Formats: sequence, structure tokens, C-alpha cells
Amino acid sequence: MKTILPFLLFLPVVSKAQDAVLDLTKLHSYANQEVPAYLSPDNIPATNRISDIGATLGRVLFYDKRLSNNSTVSCASCHQQENAFGDPAVASQGVAGTTGRHSMRLINARFSAERKFFWDERAPTLEFQTTQPIQDHIEMGFSGADGDPDLSALGVRISELELYQVLFTAVYGSPEITEARMQQALAQFVRSIQSFDSKYDRGFVAAPNPNADFANFTERENQGKRLFMSPPGGASGGAGCAACHRAPTFDIDPNTGHNGVTGSLGGGQDLTNTRSPNLRDVVDADGTPHGPFMHDGSKATLLDVINHYNAIPAVAPGLDRRLVGPPPRPGGPPQQAQRLNLSEIEKESLVSFLGTLTGSSVYKDEKWASPFDSSNDLSFVVLPTVVTFATELEGEGRKIILGAGGVPRVRYLLRTSSDLENWDEGIGVIASNSGELSHEMAAASVAKFFRFVYAPPE
Ligand code: HEC
Ligand code: HEC
Repeated sequence: MKTILPFLLFLPVVSKAQDAVLDLTKLHSYANQEVPAYLSPDNIPATNRISDIGATLGRVLFYDKRLSNNSTVSCASCHQQENAFGDPAVASQGVAGTTGRHSMRLINARFSAERKFFWDERAPTLEFQTTQPIQDHIEMGFSGADGDPDLSALGVRISELELYQVLFTAVYGSPEITEARMQQALAQFVRSIQSFDSKYDRGFVAAPNPNADFANFTERENQGKRLFMSPPGGASGGAGCAACHRAPTFDIDPNTGHNGVTGSLGGGQDLTNTRSPNLRDVVDADGTPHGPFMHDGSKATLLDVINHYNAIPAVAPGLDRRLVGPPPRPGGPPQQAQRLNLSEIEKESLVSFLGTLTGSSVYKDEKWASPFDSSNDLSFVVLPTVVTFATELEGEGRKIILGAGGVPRVRYLLRTSSDLENWDEGIGVIASNSGELSHEMAAASVAKFFRFVYAPPE
């Protein structure tokens, strides 16, 4: 016979009272999010599966301005939740100037078949990517050059904060801060950011054929979808977008050249950009663009984007072969880039279709929002608020089983008292990987009162 009584001990909040409180004993769900069955495999490496506590550490790092040299810039300064984790500015403000390319949206990064990141794919993995902005002189300023401190100085800075001592212990079993640990946690958080509650998803679930019309779409949206999905040329004359931006994730085809947008924010030409963020959430629910678009932010609206593909200015070296026009005739004009000859209505239909790829929860869900308050402060809960108490018959006597929800891998002391005044030294109890605290003792002991105490890493 086992009876379990919820047993409220006390409500312990570490540090001073504040608006923003992160309860590390009750984590948001990142590991087991619902993912539509029609998605192809993702780019999560076997060595960095998403855990709730790992993504929580990533979330705190992502929003912490102390990760920049002068503590004014976090990842979220340029990757803003309300803007689909992009930035409405053409160039984003870093600690020492503005970025050389436009900030990329980060939604559904987990589902890109292209595993190399950045516009020019210079980061071999998402893990590698995540500490590049920190080590960039302009963006976050721990470059180790140009008078900047290096990444180890950042490690020293944040290793002094109890928040990170607890979080790194909770994720990795010890408080040591290394670049690899930061990379893993940041990548877990970025991969957790997903958006699959769009009109397109509802249509696709109802009739899972990307080439058929969707019953929940307007005529315009269906026309735009047909244009997007069909190759250019021929009688049906589509716009050929899906060859590179592939349904249903709308991520970029890994074998893509550049698309003829060759400008550079620093002036001159840039022919290296062969990756695009996927085309989900390119506009807000009301159609406001989450642009500007392209690596140089040169297209303010989706109509500007479509006008580009409708008449690509020139065949610059490296232009994707699918965007090059028919071979030139001898003695005729030089080879042209793609001409789609879309009508104004067809262009508007494409814009309407792209609007169906926008979700809603990704903009609102607290698990992807800043855990900090407006003055960059954060309180966090590490002590269990509810302790369960069970007794079991065992041989001659009875035993007591205490259980509680703590922070994964963190060490607590279970202290007992018979009068609420004198407490014993306590017994060390380490929370399991999923945060469970559990301890058994003989009921013969005189203790009547129990509490878990946080035992900071030594
Ligand atoms: C000052 C602005 C700024 C800050 C701060 C910043 N980023 Fe970025 N981010 C950018 C820009 C600009 C790009 C595109 C750069 C390029 O391709 O050269 C980018 C690209 C990315 C990408 C690549 C997306 C893709 O699909 O290829 C990821 C992931 C990313 N950032 C994550 C982060 C993380 C994590 C942090 C914090 C550690 C961060 N960023 C901090 C501006 C910023
Ligand atoms: C040959 C491959 C290819 C085709 C076909 C193609 N694109 Fe792209 N697209 C790209 C590449 C590569 C980029 C990133 C280029 C850059 O920024 O320099 C991109 C960028 C974009 C962007 C900007 C994304 C952002 O986050 O700024 C949009 C929107 C877009 N394409 C829509 C379309 C539409 C609509 C069509 C069809 C009319 C289309 N694309 C056809 C390869 C292609």
C-alpha cells in the first residue's frame, strides 16, 4: 500500500524579487514538441539532441546581453521574436558598427536539408555557427583581436554568475563553461524554434499533395501556389520557385548557386550567397514583410523579390543554372538571365501564396521569449515547490520515500528536523537527468519535518 500526499514545504525563490522568474524545476517543452508527420528528417546531430534543460540554457544565453563585450547586444538584438527572429533593419547594430549582411530569420532552422549555415554557407554546422557572432568584432566583440577580449574572457565573466553555475551543471553535470557547451545549448534553442501552424499546413494536412489545390485557400492563393510549384516555360508557365525553395519546409536546395542578387552592404559585388532562410514566416499575419529580403536587404517587399526573379538583371558568374535563360543565338544579343513574363495578377498571387506560410504561435510562445526583465535581470527558482511524501511497509518497519521536482543534475541537501528549529546537516541528493529528487529513509527516525536545500556547486 502506497499513499502519496502532496506536502507543501515552502516557496523558495533564489535572489531578490523581480518581474522575470525562470522556474528551473518546471521547464518548457522543447524536446518533445509536436512536429508534423510530413516533415523530412531534420539536421539534429546524434551528439546534440534537444533536451528541455539544454534548450533552456540556450534560451538564457540567446537573450543575455552579457554575451557581448559591452553588455549591450544579445543574439536577440538582431534575431527578434516578433520579427520571425530576424531584424527589420537592413544592417543590424552590433557593439562596434553594423553588420556586413542582413540578419537571417531563424524559424525552422532545424528542418533545413542544407546543413551549412550563413548566407554564404561558411559555417559547417549550426553548432559551429552559434559562437561566430560572439567572436565577431562588430557583432558581439569577443574576437580576441582589434583590442577585443577573447572568448575565454567571456567564459570567465559568466562563470561568476550563479545562474550559469546552476544551468551548466544542470545540462552538463558540472559548471565548467566551454565553447562546445555554449554551442550545443545555443544550437538546441535555435533548433527548437518552429512554426507549423500556418494556413499552408492546415491545407496540406487535409490534402497532402503539394501540387493539388488546397480547399482552405482562396483562388489567388491557389494560383500563387501553382506558379510557385511549377517549372517556368511551357504552356503552364510557372515561376519555378519550388526547385530551390522546397515544399513543405520551403528550405533551400543544398545544391544551389546564387540567385542573381549580387549587391553588398559594404559596396562592390558579392557572388557567394547560395543559402536562404526557409520561406516560412516571410510576412506577419497581416502581410507586413519580415524583410527586407536577401543578403543585402535590397528587396523591401515580396513584390520586389518577385520582380527580381521575373527579370534577373544579368548572368553574373555563379548564377544558378536554373536562372539562366536559353543559350544565345550566333550573332544575337548576349545570353540573358531568367525572364518569367509574369502578369501583375500572377505576381500578386505569388505574394498571397507566400502569406499562407506564416504561423502564429512562434511569435507569442513564452518558451522562445526573453526570460529577462526590462532591466536585464532574471530571478530563477531551483528549489522544489512541491514535495511528495509516501510511506511503505518494509519488513518489520516502515520506510519513507520523499520525492520532488528539482533541477536536473543539481545537488541538494535533504535536511530533517523534529521541531522545525534544529535541522540536521542533511544528506546529499542529486537530481536525476530529468530533475527528479527522491530519497528513502527508515520511518524509525524521529524526524517529522523535511526540506530540500540548494547545495551550490563546490
Ligand atoms: C549584430 C547582429 C547579430 C547578432 C548579435 C547575432 N546575429 Fe545571427 N546573424 C546576423 C547576420 C547579419 C547573419 C547573416 C550573416 C552572414 O551570413 O554573413 C546572421 C546569421 C545567423 C544564423 C544563420 C541562419 C541560417 O539559416 O544560416 C544563425 C543560426 C544565427 N545568426 C544565430 C545567432 C546566434 C545564436 C547569436 C548569438 C550568439 C547571433 N546570431 C547573434 C546578425 C546577428
Ligand atoms: C535557383 C534557385 C532559386 C530559385 C529558382 C528561386 N530562389 Fe529564391 N532564393 C534563392 C537564393 C540562393 C536566395 C538567397 C540569395 C541572397 O540573399 O543572395 C533566395 C532568396 C529568396 C528570398 C529572400 C529570403 C530572405 O530571407 O531574405 C525570397 C523571398 C525568395 N528567394 C523567393 C523566391 C520566389 C518567390 C521564387 C520564385 C519566383 C524564388 N525565390 C526562386 C534561390 C532561388
